[in-house]
Amino acid sequence: MAFSYMPGFGNDFETETLPGSLPQGRNSPQRPAYGLYAEQLSGSPFTAPRGTNERSWLYRIRPSVRHTGRFKGMRYPLWKTAPNIGDHELALGQYRWNPVPMPSEPTDFISGMRTMTTAGDAVGQSGMAAHVYVANRSMVDDHFFNADGELMIVPQVGALRLVTEMGVIELRPGEIAVLPRGLVFKVELADKEARGYVCENYGAKFTMPDRGPIGANCLANPRDFKTPCAWFEEKETPCRLIVKWCGTFHVTELDHSPLDVVAWHGNYAPYKYDLATFSPVGAILFDHPDPSIFTVLTAPSGEEGTANVDFVIFPPRWLVAENTFRPPWYHRNIMSEFMGLIHGQYDAKEEGFVPGGISLHNQMLAHGPDASGFEKATRADLKPVKLDNTMAFMFETRFPQMLTRYAAELDTLQENYIDCWADLKKRFNGTPEGDWS
Ligand SMILES: [Fe+2]
Repeated sequence: MAFSYMPGFGNDFETETLPGSLPQGRNSPQRPAYGLYAEQLSGSPFTAPRGTNERSWLYRIRPSVRHTGRFKGMRYPLWKTAPNIGDHELALGQYRWNPVPMPSEPTDFISGMRTMTTAGDAVGQSGMAAHVYVANRSMVDDHFFNADGELMIVPQVGALRLVTEMGVIELRPGEIAVLPRGLVFKVELADKEARGYVCENYGAKFTMPDRGPIGANCLANPRDFKTPCAWFEEKETPCRLIVKWCGTFHVTELDHSPLDVVAWHGNYAPYKYDLATFSPVGAILFDHPDPSIFTVLTAPSGEEGTANVDFVIFPPRWLVAENTFRPPWYHRNIMSEFMGLIHGQYDAKEEGFVPGGISLHNQMLAHGPDASGFEKATRADLKPVKLDNTMAFMFETRFPQMLTRYAAELDTLQENYIDCWADLKKRFNGTPEGDWS
């Protein structure tokens, strides 16, 4: 079955699966068509200003109070929530990992969540967590919602089907999806196994960055964001709903599926985005702009220009700058940078950063191109070059990122990562020419 989508970012969408199931001219009729229940899902406080006010009206077979019963506690010990400080012995450092290993035991999207870092404070609704998910089986009768934040899913291996109460999103590596806080969903695997990255954003929702003097176009364009059309199932068999709430997990048993929204309208909804539709803007004469030029989505923190999280990509692009060191420069940053590689090679690292891998350059820790990358870039013939077949990304947050014990003790942590800079030699010899031997 092909699923359809509605284009646009943050639109006031409307969609129905059965003719006349979406009320017109009012939100809460005395008796909604088809015997449906009307229910509001609020993604912002009622009184939030118009630009950030988000809510949707859902018309469903049963109201959500019938999709929860008594909760029991349950545990997902590898899914951590901020603040999660000092649960390991690893000293401060720049770190890099090879891919998180695929599991051998049956693992679904929720049990396969491995938290690498946490930042800020989920209860204070600020900060984020960076996770890797690994999975080898679909969620069938289990459903999930996260009260702690929205989930940005960045697949790296294997296509997924995100079956949500507001519609179905088919997602493959190279695309991303954002599932709003509170949305009920399950994740099915379209392939044998799946791995990818997740940003759990505890703060204000991701939105499109202002483009400033770039103008009305380029970077991510609103029409390339796709929100699913309504979809529902009438499944009267045992199901479970698992909830993440302030870092704790709870489960409730149901005798039917909670994915029963027949029609909905509003602007609080899941969406996906194909990273190949990002139109990069960059230096066309000299120098290397800050990576913020490649921001796809930003989650503001309340302080202007200081993101709770930025989602930044490093897509295929032409490098044309003259008399310029073209890779990213060396730097230290007040923001903390969690990077992943979806496919290909990242231009600041010649080796060691592999697809599915992770690097972490935390608040104020120096980083930049490795020695061989520096060597190459300082001797390159600066003709236009296309950087192709690559897609790296960064979750960059204003908060320091705390490693989890899982990340600190993971076998794929590279012992020798910082040696990639060891061969950067002194070239200062007191002459204006320097020593470029
Ligand atoms: Fe950086």
